[in-house]
Amino acid sequence: MRHSTIRQLEVFEAIARLKSFTRAAEELFLTQPTVSMQIKKLTDEIGLPLFEQIGKKIYLTDAGKELYQTCLGIFEHFSRFEMIASDMKGLKSGKLRLAVVTTAKYFTPRLLGMFCQKYPDIDVALKVTNRERVLERLTNNQDDLYILGQVPDAVDAVAEVFLDNQLVVMASADHPLSCEKKISIERICDELFIMREPGSGTRMATERFFSEQNKKLKVRMELGSNEAIKQAIVGRLGIAVLSRHTLALDAPMGQLAILDVEGFPIERHWYFAYPSGKQLSIVAQTFLEYLRQASDYLDDLSCRHAISGHCPLLKDSQH
Ligand code: PGA
Repeated sequence: MRHSTIRQLEVFEAIARLKSFTRAAEELFLTQPTVSMQIKKLTDEIGLPLFEQIGKKIYLTDAGKELYQTCLGIFEHFSRFEMIASDMKGLKSGKLRLAVVTTAKYFTPRLLGMFCQKYPDIDVALKVTNRERVLERLTNNQDDLYILGQVPDAVDAVAEVFLDNQLVVMASADHPLSCEKKISIERICDELFIMREPGSGTRMATERFFSEQNKKLKVRMELGSNEAIKQAIVGRLGIAVLSRHTLALDAPMGQLAILDVEGFPIERHWYFAYPSGKQLSIVAQTFLEYLRQASDYLDDLSCRHAISGHCPLLKDSQH
């Protein structure tokens, strides 16, 4: 056992948590044969099987369960040591591990750009995935900080709002509704919708909004990315509810319109969050402080230019 490497334990921990060799390989940017080889070496070293496969599912053996708990303890100790070491170095160096929901990718890299200019010795690892996966990572305490929409009550976390997030109805610029005012919910429900994938926070908020109105949407297709949805809107495959932030920088120019629909925009917010009781490193605390002030700057940079009519190429029928 003493010859097992930290890398092998990392691979083991990822498989045990994700219950999948394939997902573990993806998360660790390794090939599946490499993952299998690492687990074979670890199993040989320990002399007991760690996983058993029943049908298509993977289960931990008793030895596997014990090793999983041991791994969590080891990694927790390591990250505490890293934190102490970087604090001893006198702050502003070390690693910041961030996990953010897909839609936050429209502003997080800009935030990080400014932060890294200020603190060039901080290394940042950014994981972008949907809400369900971010919540899974938060629950497993895999990163330093998380950026997402509201954290459910069932998750024991500290969360603070730092930015608005409006969800709007987008259609192609030449859509007949793009010139209309105060479109009713009934009318919008006649349209075909393009939805984000299950697990997306945007989808969750959209479904909640329409079910509160006792309405069912006609969903033409599901797509796993905001970008793909915008292209599908431009291709006149349907309309969609998306965050205004998705219009920042790279919106298909002049080809999208925000419809003036009753009850819209849906007002959501961006939160930063971390598990309750987590001891934040100095680096994470520094980023948190920076986030609290960064919203003003982001307000300037984001799609509000488009909304207030400064971008002549993007139609916004709400204004
Ligand atoms: P999503 O999350 O990118 O998973 O849709 C966005 C949100 O929670 O508002």
